[in-house]
Amino acid sequence: MSKLGKYQIKDFISQEQIQERIKSLGQEITNHYKDESIVMLGVLKGSFIFLADLCRSIDLPAQIEFIGLSSYKDQTTSSGKITITNKLSASLKDKHVLIVEDIYDTGLTLKFLLEHLKEHSPKSLKICTLLKKQIPTQIDLPIDFYGFTIPSEFVVGFGLDVAEDLRHLPMISILQP
Ligand code: IMP
Repeated sequence: MSKLGKYQIKDFISQEQIQERIKSLGQEITNHYKDESIVMLGVLKGSFIFLADLCRSIDLPAQIEFIGLSSYKDQTTSSGKITITNKLSASLKDKHVLIVEDIYDTGLTLKFLLEHLKEHSPKSLKICTLLKKQIPTQIDLPIDFYGFTIPSEFVVGFGLDVAEDLRHLPMISILQP
């Protein structure tokens, strides 16, 4: 357990464990697309560190794009309402799009994003999320690639925030109430 400013956090997934898992995810993704070009679409802000590491562990021609979505309004539970905070700036038409997300919690964000992106006529649409929370009320979505399944805890670090704080931590920690 450690204290960082006003927050109490507990070690959960180490930098080494994350890096090892991202390397093998990169291999899985490379094997899946077999030399096809892909667009890695990072969901801001939470995916920025994960995407930076994941894109360097694939061996495929790739483009990097971002979309900004927000569902948590400075709280630790989903507001249920998703808003686009940064619009897509490139065409996804006829491209293989891999959504890169930090965490699949209720599934509301990814459901919204899948519906939104289908309107952009990609050739294929797949999801890669670093963390998959195990919660009973989760919307069932096809998660093609994921790093770790985790219990229903609020986690921070490696891109994940609490009220915009603690995204910069190099490991994933559990936020203590
Ligand atoms: P969902 O819509 O409930 O699946 O949540 C997706 C978004 O909520 C993620 O992209 C995160 O930004 C945020 N989120 C969900 N769980 C956590 C958490 O444990 N820590 C930090 N952010 C979270």
